[in-house]
Amino acid sequence: MTGQTPILEVNDISLRFGGVRALSNVTFDVKKGELFSIIGPNGAGKTSLLNCISGRYSPQEGSIKFNGQEVTKMTPNHRAELGMGRTFQNLALFAHMTVLDNIMVGRHHLMKNNFLNGGLYWFGGAQKEELLHRREAEDIIDFLEISHIRKSVAGTLSYGLRKRVELARAVALRPDLLLLDEPMAGMNLEEKEDMARYICDLNEEWGMTVVMIEHDMGVVMDISERVMVLDFGKNIAEGLPDEIMKNDYVKRAYLGVDEDDEAEGEVA
Ligand SMILES: Nc1ncnc2c1ncn2[C@@H]1O[C@H](COP(=O)(O)OP(=O)(O)OP(=O)(O)O)[C@@H](O)[C@H]1O
Ligand SMILES: [Mg+2]
Repeated sequence: MTGQTPILEVNDISLRFGGVRALSNVTFDVKKGELFSIIGPNGAGKTSLLNCISGRYSPQEGSIKFNGQEVTKMTPNHRAELGMGRTFQNLALFAHMTVLDNIMVGRHHLMKNNFLNGGLYWFGGAQKEELLHRREAEDIIDFLEISHIRKSVAGTLSYGLRKRVELARAVALRPDLLLLDEPMAGMNLEEKEDMARYICDLNEEWGMTVVMIEHDMGVVMDISERVMVLDFGKNIAEGLPDEIMKNDYVKRAYLGVDEDDEAEGEVA
């Protein structure tokens, strides 16, 4: 259920790369439990914004709060520990490792007995802990219907399946907030439908708040509760899918509708 409490508060952030202003005074909130999408043309600053939220980039101005806590200066790892998970626009799996191992990497920092101190505790809790983590990983594998490829080497899989494994790895952290950068890019229709269903289930049944960048307007309008439009690094519109669909800028930029077409439509 979407409540009124924000899980994410982005307040007036600006990000520059030399002379390029990637983000200018971007402000928005995401409520707990929401499925929130970010759209905008190539180069609009969508990935940069996600990178500021996850801690990869540091905005020169503004602040970001996660669950009421100031995180603007925190490292990506620290934010992950607090409950942020993410996927990348360009796949970031370990190509030579199996699907299961890729997912276990996602859980790694949740493990007290990791490879640094594991040897010391191996005869104690480590084995039990490893088993617990494997079980959790297997739950995610079942949910995302990738059991048949769990022992496959990630690099040998189709693009659509690799995207799904990447989602599994992000979900493995059981994040409160899931940041997805174009989860359906390059997929065929069937793969997109599957992916949309997984994202909705993670949101509704697993209780994860989702912030998703996506170019496929059909999917965005279908599954999002609210949508924000970025253009040249600025938040130019924000609202319910219906409201965004009526937005003149969105109509021109995405739906190929210009004023002449609309006028003709009325005459006809
Ligand atoms: N690490 C970086 N160094 C320099 N410039 C960058 C860097 N990352 C992003 N930019 C610039 O910031 C601007 C926004 O890029 P960004 O990747 O955030 O856009 P986007 O909306 O995700 O685009 P796309 O839809 O193509 O993924 C672009 O002008 C880009 O060249
Ligand atoms: Mg991008």
